[in-house]
Amino acid sequence: MAHSRILGTGSYLPANVLTNAMLAERVETSDEWIVSRTGIHARHIASDEETTSDLALKAAQAAISNAGIDKGEIDLIIVATTTPDMVFPSTACLLQEKLGIPGCPAFDVQAVCAGFMFALTTAHNYIRTGMAKKALVVGAEIMSRVLDWEDRRTCVLFGDGAGAVVLGESDEPGILHAKLAADGRYKDILNTPAQISGGKIQGMPYLHMDGPAVFKFAVKALSDIAGKTLAEAGVPQDDVDWLVPHQANLRIIESTAKHLGLPMERVIVTLPQQGNTSAASIPLALDAAVRDGRIRRGQTVLLEGIGGGFAWGAVLLRY
Ligand SMILES: CC(C)(COP(=O)(O)OP(=O)(O)OC[C@H]1O[C@@H](n2cnc3c(N)ncnc32)[C@H](O)[C@@H]1OP(=O)(O)O)[C@@H](O)C(=O)NCCC(=O)NCCS
Repeated sequence: MAHSRILGTGSYLPANVLTNAMLAERVETSDEWIVSRTGIHARHIASDEETTSDLALKAAQAAISNAGIDKGEIDLIIVATTTPDMVFPSTACLLQEKLGIPGCPAFDVQAVCAGFMFALTTAHNYIRTGMAKKALVVGAEIMSRVLDWEDRRTCVLFGDGAGAVVLGESDEPGILHAKLAADGRYKDILNTPAQISGGKIQGMPYLHMDGPAVFKFAVKALSDIAGKTLAEAGVPQDDVDWLVPHQANLRIIESTAKHLGLPMERVIVTLPQQGNTSAASIPLALDAAVRDGRIRRGQTVLLEGIGGGFAWGAVLLRY
């Protein structure tokens, strides 16, 4: 079977920044509460004119440019999103049209904040089995549109953005191992349960979360899957140069790193200025660390994410 490796990364954050102080003018909260409970200081918010596929386009263009390939070489597009532009067509099809590369398969993956893990694993297997040679994998979200801006328990946590990678066929192993999991029994502790029916929105169209229950589940599930991924790959945790976790809460990130025996100096953290950007958070963090030179070619990187469903996963790779 062929190997797959990341050829280039890219990301995009909307220009508008919403600080904790600005939020405290809208709901009963404070910078002190948000920072101490979550580690978040600010988040980016898409403008009314921007769509998820617009954010995805900018991240994708950067990834294609950094990969040094021609966009016409892309033969698979997967977008992980839980906030698509529309019910259908998929955001991946809209992105393909914006990129001007008709023809290749394009589809969305919905695993909420774990979406990028599912999308990357899917693209990896397309390449391994010879069904694709250069895949564009994007995580893009406008979470601000599914938040109740009067609910202080949730609106302080999330932000908007997009991150992308170009994954290409390679002689050398890039992705070493991937592991995914899901448990629908936890559907009620994190969800946005509305649906469109009869021309109307039926049910609650805002993100609902039982924060403490999610926190407890996330730490255990992420620690378990990260440990199993390393064990199955036969890679000792000391060999991991960088952990790139889903950016939901600094305390979750710190607990998971501790379980793995990794010091925080080897963990990529973008959460303070971005909040939780759901499926976009891992590729946003990966791109930031590649661009600032922390993650270098040949290093071993562990990605991990978890989100509503619950769905979670980890991908171990040699960058
Ligand atoms: C959401 C989270 C930060 C809340 O922190 P917590 O320490 O668990 O806080 P609780 O929910 O128990 O609430 C404690 C108190 O703070 C209050 N509170 C909640 N949000 C607040 C806010 N933004 N500002 C001020 N007070 C707030 C609550 O109303 C509660 O008050 P009460 O005791 O008078 O009822 C935390 O549970 C968390 O991060 N969970 C995981 C979230 C996550 O990662 N989600 C995405 C997964 S992909």
